[in-house]
Amino acid sequence: MSAAGAAAQPTPAGVPLKLELAGLHVSYVTREGAAIEAVGGIDLQVPDKPGVGEIVVLLGPSGCGKSTVLKSVAGLLRPTRGEVRVGGQPVTGVGRDRGMVFQQYTSFGWLTVAENVGYGLRLAGVPKAQRQEQVEHYLQLVGLYDYRQLYPKSLSGGMKQRVAIARTLINRPRLLLMDEPFGALDPQTRWEMQTLLLEIARREDATIVLVTHDVSEAVYVGDTCYVLTPRPARIVERVEVPSFGDRTPALKAAPEFRAVEQALLARLYARLPGSAETVSR
Ligand SMILES: Nc1ncnc2c1ncn2[C@@H]1O[C@H](COP(=O)(O)OP(=O)(O)O)[C@@H](O)[C@H]1O
Ligand SMILES: [Mg+2]
Repeated sequence: MSAAGAAAQPTPAGVPLKLELAGLHVSYVTREGAAIEAVGGIDLQVPDKPGVGEIVVLLGPSGCGKSTVLKSVAGLLRPTRGEVRVGGQPVTGVGRDRGMVFQQYTSFGWLTVAENVGYGLRLAGVPKAQRQEQVEHYLQLVGLYDYRQLYPKSLSGGMKQRVAIARTLINRPRLLLMDEPFGALDPQTRWEMQTLLLEIARREDATIVLVTHDVSEAVYVGDTCYVLTPRPARIVERVEVPSFGDRTPALKAAPEFRAVEQALLARLYARLPGSAETVSR
């Protein structure tokens, strides 16, 4: 089921919401029948701001339930309790209104870069000329135009993720869901990709929900950052990240950037075993 094309429903307060998590609980049941609570009750609202590209970050330690939250938004997992709504419509399964980019690059090895990017439109029956125009636009956007005839196996990790991003964006999802998308990349490439993501959010006025355990990444790309507890994931704090003017990699060394990082780190690790707040002396 898809909510594509549905107008955002206003909340009782009159604010249209792009994404809403209402009392989201997700538990897994193991083969032995034991329940593992991965998401322990999350309430979150992302307002619909037409014309404004926004990046919402879910920041939490490894294993806390981040991917579980994102898969629930994607419609790949059903909540145990609570609900996910996109544009006011309950999510009941996957849909073209939500695109997902995973850490591990997933593409078709037998198709060229351009064919991979155009694949979704081909499936949707979009005529060739129109498809080519769109493919070119998204190849330009992610900086892959000159590599369009290559096959994925000859690309670097960062370039492969650019293909994955372009291939997802071309479907014009209302939400771009990214699960630690740069986690497997070297630091230099990671910075480049983070900067590219800022550019994409600005140019495509896309709403991006990005999951990461990397505090620096959260501050660099995030407009709003939700800090999550260890499993089961709950929200500890919602932080509005300052705009910092132009975001370039040099910003990461600036005192005002470091200050936000430190504040998030303190929230993130306050409740982990061995941290200053939990060690008894
Ligand atoms: N299919 C599953 N069955 C049982 N437990 C799972 C399953 N998937 C994830 N988990 C557990 O749920 C918790 C949260 O997982 P996940 O959402 O992948 O965390 P994160 O993305 O934050 O690292 C982890 O403890 C993980 O072991
Ligand atoms: Mg994960």
